[in-house]
Amino acid sequence: MKAPKKDVRDYIRTIPDFPHEGIMFRDVTTLFSHPRGFRMAIDQLLHPYAGEDIDVVVGLEARGFILGGAIAHQLGKGFVPIRKEGKLPGKTIKQPYTLEYGEAVMEIHDDAIEAGSKVLVVDDLLATGGTAEAGIKLLEQLGGEVVGCAFVIDLPELGGRAKLEALGMDVHILCE
Ligand code: PRP
Ligand code: ADE
Repeated sequence: MKAPKKDVRDYIRTIPDFPHEGIMFRDVTTLFSHPRGFRMAIDQLLHPYAGEDIDVVVGLEARGFILGGAIAHQLGKGFVPIRKEGKLPGKTIKQPYTLEYGEAVMEIHDDAIEAGSKVLVVDDLLATGGTAEAGIKLLEQLGGEVVGCAFVIDLPELGGRAKLEALGMDVHILCE
C-alpha cells in the first residue's frame, strides 16, 4: 500500500521548552530542509495571490527571509527584510512590539518601500501577531499597502489572526 501523502504540517517538528521553559517551539527547519516540503510550502503560500498585483515581498526576521526570498523569486519581484533592531546598515524607522516570549524592536530601511507599493508580508509563524503588526505599521508608515500576510503556522490560542484581521488584513495560513 502507498504511504499517505504528507502535508506541510507533517514536516514541522516541535521542540519543547525552547527558547524558554513551557514554550512548545514549532521548528520549520525540518520543513525547509525537505525538498518536497519546502516547495509545497512556497506553492501553498503563494496560491491565493496568483494573479494579484504585488510589487514587493517583505520577510520578517528570521525565517520569513527564507520563505519570502523564495516567494519573491517565484513572483519575479524584489525582497525587502524587516529586521530586529541593530542589524540594518542604513537609515531605518523602528517599531517596538511584544511577542509570546518577550519584547523587541523591528526596523526597516526608510527607503525600502516606494509609497503606494503593494506588499505581501511573509513569516513562518503567527503567534500573538505582535511581530507582524509591527511590520505592518512600519510598511504603512512608508506608504506601503499590505495586500496580504502569509504564514506557514498559526498558534490560534494566541490570537494573532484575529489581531491582524481586526486591522483589515488578508491573512493566509497553511496549518495550525
Ligand atoms: C518567531 C516567529 C515570528 C514571531 C511570531 O520569531 O518566527 O516571527 O516569533 O510571534 P508573534 O506573532 O507573537 O509576534 P522570533 O521572534 O522567535 O525571532 P527569530 O525569527 O529571530 O528567531
Ligand atoms: N514564535 C512565537 N511562539 C513560537 C512558537 N511556539 N514556536 C515557534 N516560533 C514562535
